[in-house]
Amino acid sequence: MISESPIDIMVEVENLNVQFGKKQIVRDVSFNVNKGEIIGMFGISGAGKTTIIRVLTCQIGQKNWSGKVNVTGLSPNKKRNHREILSNIGYVPQLEQLNLYFELSPLANVDIFTSTYGMDKKEANKVAKNLFMILDIPEDTWHKRVKHMSGGEKKRLSMAIGLIHNPNVLFLDEPTTGVDASKRYEILSYLKKLNQKLQTTMFIITHDLEAALICDKAAILREGKMLSFDSPKKLISSLPSNGMIARVTIENLNQQTIDIIQQFPPIQEILRVGNEVIEVMMHDFEVNLPKLIKYLVNKGFNVTAMSRDVATFRRFFQIRIKEEEQKEKEQNSSIVENKEVHDE
Ligand SMILES: Nc1ncnc2c1ncn2[C@@H]1O[C@H](COP(=O)(O)OP(=O)(O)O)[C@@H](O)[C@H]1O
Ligand SMILES: [Mg+2]
Repeated sequence: MISESPIDIMVEVENLNVQFGKKQIVRDVSFNVNKGEIIGMFGISGAGKTTIIRVLTCQIGQKNWSGKVNVTGLSPNKKRNHREILSNIGYVPQLEQLNLYFELSPLANVDIFTSTYGMDKKEANKVAKNLFMILDIPEDTWHKRVKHMSGGEKKRLSMAIGLIHNPNVLFLDEPTTGVDASKRYEILSYLKKLNQKLQTTMFIITHDLEAALICDKAAILREGKMLSFDSPKKLISSLPSNGMIARVTIENLNQQTIDIIQQFPPIQEILRVGNEVIEVMMHDFEVNLPKLIKYLVNKGFNVTAMSRDVATFRRFFQIRIKEEEQKEKEQNSSIVENKEVHDE
């Protein structure tokens, strides 16, 4: 059997647990990241995404975490590795004021950051200009104060600064949060472009589910646990009927209608996705699709539109989270039942 060359594994995490006081924040998280991959970390606020990244970027003391962690082949659990890890990685914080000096120009910012890495000034200037070009940071802003730049330009400059020392891995914490919806896709496509041009491995924390479009792998976190880790495509096709859905528009849709449709035996998932729109997954999709239509008509529902499609990553996310909540509810109620049996 051919095993993966360790040099191609940029980040290795095995059974990571993070604890602050009595509170367990990250629970038994394991995953590997290969060279050149873009990883998306998804999950609602408080899921533990930033905490995981902070372990990987040497920002959390060893006493708060356990497990095997290697970043570019080095473990952050040894203080003596920190310097080398930090020179191998870049970090773009959620708020750009944390890595940019707004009163200085973009090029002066570059000077400050590269001097901390001991880079040659001339060389740094060349690298910076190249990055500014890739990121379409207009030349007339390069010598003016950062505070006069637009929000999108500041974000892109912050990304350029994170990449200035040509790191192997770039960590980005919520790069699209606080950005206009129309500009979000732009930021993501710049990241993809940088990834392709520089071969930089990227770790993107986001709750913007559309970001899955540019990711090679998606991690879903909930309450410190990693629920899924795979390519968005594979995750979607792991859904019932390989991720195929029927999208049905029904006049006067209400909960009662949904309850009745739920009784159609082949149904595995039914989600309301709009005022009058549901998405349905069922086993033996092809065979059961015409039967579903018949069922709806027989029940007297007025179906005004119907289409078949592949589920989006957003649907996968919703279904996976719902499944986990359901599991938790069942576990809790069985604990209560056991307790009741005990108390009798
Ligand atoms: N230094 C800390 N001390 C105590 N609790 C913390 C600390 N850092 C984060 N937490 C808690 O850990 C949980 C996860 O936080 P975080 O990793 O920031 O989540 P996310 O980035 O997914 O929104 C939150 O409940 C947060 O309050
Ligand atoms: Mg966070």
